[in-house]
Amino acid sequence: MEQHVYPPAAQARIQGMEAYQALCAEAEADHASYWARLAREFLSWQTPFTKSLNDSEAPFFKWFEDGKLNASYNCLDRHVQAGKGERTAIIFETDGGESRKVSYAELLALVCQMANGLKSRGIKKGDRVVIYMPMSVEGVAAMQACARIGATHSVVFGGFSAQSLRDRINDAGAVALITADEQMRGGKALALKGIVDEALDGGVCPTLKDVIVYRRTGGAVGWVEGRDLWLHELLQGASSICEPEWVEAEHPLFLLYTSGSTGKPKGVQHSTGGYLLHAALTTSWTFDLQDSDIFWCTADIGWVTGHSYITYGPLALGGTEIVFEGVPTYPDAARFWQMIAKHKVTIFYTAPTAIRSLIKAAETNDAVHPKHHDLSSLRLLGSVGEPINPAAWEWYFQNVGGGRCPIVDTFWQTETGGHMITPLPGVTPMVPGSCTLPFPGITAAIVDEMGNDVPNGTGGILVVKKPWPAMIRTIWGDPERFKKSYYPEELKGYYLAGDGAIRSADRGYFTITGRIDDVLNVSGHRMGTMEIESALVAHTELVAEAAVVGRPDDLTGEAICAFVVLKRARPTGEEAKAIAKELRDWVAKEIGPIAKPKEIRFGDNLPKTRSGKIMRRLLRSLAKNEPVTQDISTLENPAILEQLAQAN
Ligand code: PRX
Repeated sequence: MEQHVYPPAAQARIQGMEAYQALCAEAEADHASYWARLAREFLSWQTPFTKSLNDSEAPFFKWFEDGKLNASYNCLDRHVQAGKGERTAIIFETDGGESRKVSYAELLALVCQMANGLKSRGIKKGDRVVIYMPMSVEGVAAMQACARIGATHSVVFGGFSAQSLRDRINDAGAVALITADEQMRGGKALALKGIVDEALDGGVCPTLKDVIVYRRTGGAVGWVEGRDLWLHELLQGASSICEPEWVEAEHPLFLLYTSGSTGKPKGVQHSTGGYLLHAALTTSWTFDLQDSDIFWCTADIGWVTGHSYITYGPLALGGTEIVFEGVPTYPDAARFWQMIAKHKVTIFYTAPTAIRSLIKAAETNDAVHPKHHDLSSLRLLGSVGEPINPAAWEWYFQNVGGGRCPIVDTFWQTETGGHMITPLPGVTPMVPGSCTLPFPGITAAIVDEMGNDVPNGTGGILVVKKPWPAMIRTIWGDPERFKKSYYPEELKGYYLAGDGAIRSADRGYFTITGRIDDVLNVSGHRMGTMEIESALVAHTELVAEAAVVGRPDDLTGEAICAFVVLKRARPTGEEAKAIAKELRDWVAKEIGPIAKPKEIRFGDNLPKTRSGKIMRRLLRSLAKNEPVTQDISTLENPAILEQLAQAN
């Protein structure tokens, strides 16, 4: 297939391929000094560091360890002190379409009040605070307030169930939880506090003392005296001045739970100094954020994208950004285009799933096509979370970007803290579907199972050879799992991303070919197949056994397909439909609606080897409705394939 190559932007922070190569060469020559230079340039340090990288306890790397700083100071105070207090930090738009502006001075005052409120409850440096909030100024401020006092935040996406919330509170040993009465999404009020109450019911979270509730809608909520308190009451009389707690660079800024291939979600632990450096640096170099820009990242603060490119990166640079409460399809599927026109957004960062669903909407209803809106303010587009297929890339480029805005297809992960492989706007000619070249200083490479480099044009395992400042520090409470998951012995001390990739023979551009473990990517959300299987078998009344695989899906990238053996006879027809619905709802309750299987098939058994191992590769073929071409000589029960090949 002939590949189109699109030129980079004429102007941007890093200007031209030579400048890019010079940065790569600087990093190559002296990795530690390169990152130290940037950490001094991009961050304000209360105590300057003298050491850059400490690799004496690899893979538990430390960066800038004798330096002290505060993330909230870097995101707020320093801009106010530089006379930028009146600048708009956040343009907040509600689900219903009202908007308001919050200046840096106002945001700083709110964050300080919240920080003082938290302190008045005895919350201090090193404590963990769970944040279960809607997209809001208060949500961002809650994260910043934790950072200000040195408390480690752990944001849980508002779509996760009571069970998932409870597990995360307990794993982190959180002392407080910040939530809202309800969240507004697509014109509907959804309970948050109600889910919190369910999660905490029966005293199952012994470390948790306080539940602080932001009044968003005024809807009715249950109340537990002595545990629950209103945010506005906590803020009443709280001073809007709060001296930041200066923390060591390695101090954990946050935990963020994400799915792995085995077991429960893992608490990815990030540092303060290294993480903040990369959030700021990538916002500058990849997004070219300038004072004149209106930046909009559509992610939720419950995901890492919202951490790095809403709460930390743009604010660290003193930028102006949109925070959006609602969904892309309400009141209709033109919401993004209408908002870009209304706020004169210049840089727009979203996920391929959103683009694909908006393409579909525009194809079925011309009224929601972006062409009806003035999108001329845009100058740069971004994509994140999953591979963007070339057709969606082209549509995004032509119909949203008007054929003039580069697209930065940013590959990264919860664990990496910020962009790892991405085009840079003034530098990289773009090939749709490829995330192109590593960010300067990121030693991404493709290797075989023994850690040996493979030639361009040959697929392999994506690794990062040298540590980088924003990398995951450990899995909270489980350093062994950290080592095993990311630094397997056979890979020569390289970081294992968990993705397959290939570099093009001509340009050496990277294309991500998908996960190499049992992790699915559904609408840009990471889901472990084992987690969904555990949720299914937790329905002990109905389910005897379950196996979950992914299959390609035009809209969501991958779709979840579950094969289930019931404790009763295999159902068919209407009964099968009813049980499938019950199980889908069950998974939504156990994990959250994003984990609902798209399809459930019932069998008398699952395809197993004679030693009893489920043959998942066969299930993947069945899920795709493909004929099974694999070797099935080790299969114990070949007859089962025919049964499982049929949808209910
Ligand atoms: O498989 C890759 C995919 O998303 C995974 C990381 O998911 P998560 O930790 O939830 O973070 C998502 C937001 C950074 C990766 O292992 N992924 C992410 N970005 C891309 C991608 N796959 C292809 N292209 C991308 N640009």
